[in-house]
Amino acid sequence: MTHSDPILSVRDLQGWYGKSHVLQGVSFDVRDGELITLLGRNGAGKTTTLRSIMGLMPRAEGVVAFEGRQVLGQTPHVLAQLGLALVPENRGIFGGLTVFENLNIAIRGESSWTMARIRDLFPELNGRMKTAAGKLSGGEQQMLTIARALLTGPRVLLLDEPTEGRAPVIVERLVELFRRLKQDGLAVVLVEHNFDVCRSVADRHYIVDGGEIVWSGDSDELARSDSVISRHLSLENV
Ligand SMILES: Nc1ncnc2c1ncn2[C@@H]1O[C@H](COP(=O)(O)OP(=O)(O)OP(=O)(O)O)[C@@H](O)[C@H]1O
Ligand SMILES: [Mg+2]
Repeated sequence: MTHSDPILSVRDLQGWYGKSHVLQGVSFDVRDGELITLLGRNGAGKTTTLRSIMGLMPRAEGVVAFEGRQVLGQTPHVLAQLGLALVPENRGIFGGLTVFENLNIAIRGESSWTMARIRDLFPELNGRMKTAAGKLSGGEQQMLTIARALLTGPRVLLLDEPTEGRAPVIVERLVELFRRLKQDGLAVVLVEHNFDVCRSVADRHYIVDGGEIVWSGDSDELARSDSVISRHLSLENV
């Protein structure tokens, strides 16, 4: 492998819920220090793509190559150990535990993200370590979920609509955070509805429609592609 090889390479990913063939061939690459977005209207297959990669679908086929090695079919636990982390839409924090406890139980020895780095990266959490996580605002809970994912030591971070329903000030914080993560060399796959967020942080974009990738390109190409946007994305995106 050279340093320009993708750390995660997805090829012809297919996924089923029961008999329903939801993912019909998704392919994309992401490299270290690169942030790509998955765009698409409701029900397009974005969450299913992340769930398939993470070993959370009842049935999935295709190739998910992590550092060149097929990992599709591995358990979520093994995938997490390899360095894949998913931040799902429902936040999955322990509301009755404090912020510190939520962070502490996520720590894995091999992670380069120490508690000290997390405190530095998330000042809003640092000031509230003894607060019950359930008492945090929605935006703070979102930060906590991402902080927990970082403490597991990911090489690839999969984020499912982290800015959805968040106040503009939190969206700005998340954008700043994504930039820091990229600078740190993390590979990020971001499912995102907010076009401004996508264009300001992403290197490349992939549009999912009907369970397949129907378009890919960089931010300039996306900005010039009105027809693509109207065909595959809902108007709320623009
Ligand atoms: N648990 C499930 N069982 C059966 N079908 C499902 C299930 N979850 C999702 N689907 C279907 O799979 C398709 C893709 O859904 P998915 O959640 O991946 O879309 P999405 O792109 O993430 O949409 P959104 O933007 O609304 O989050 C949809 O047709 C949806 O109805
Ligand atoms: Mg979704």
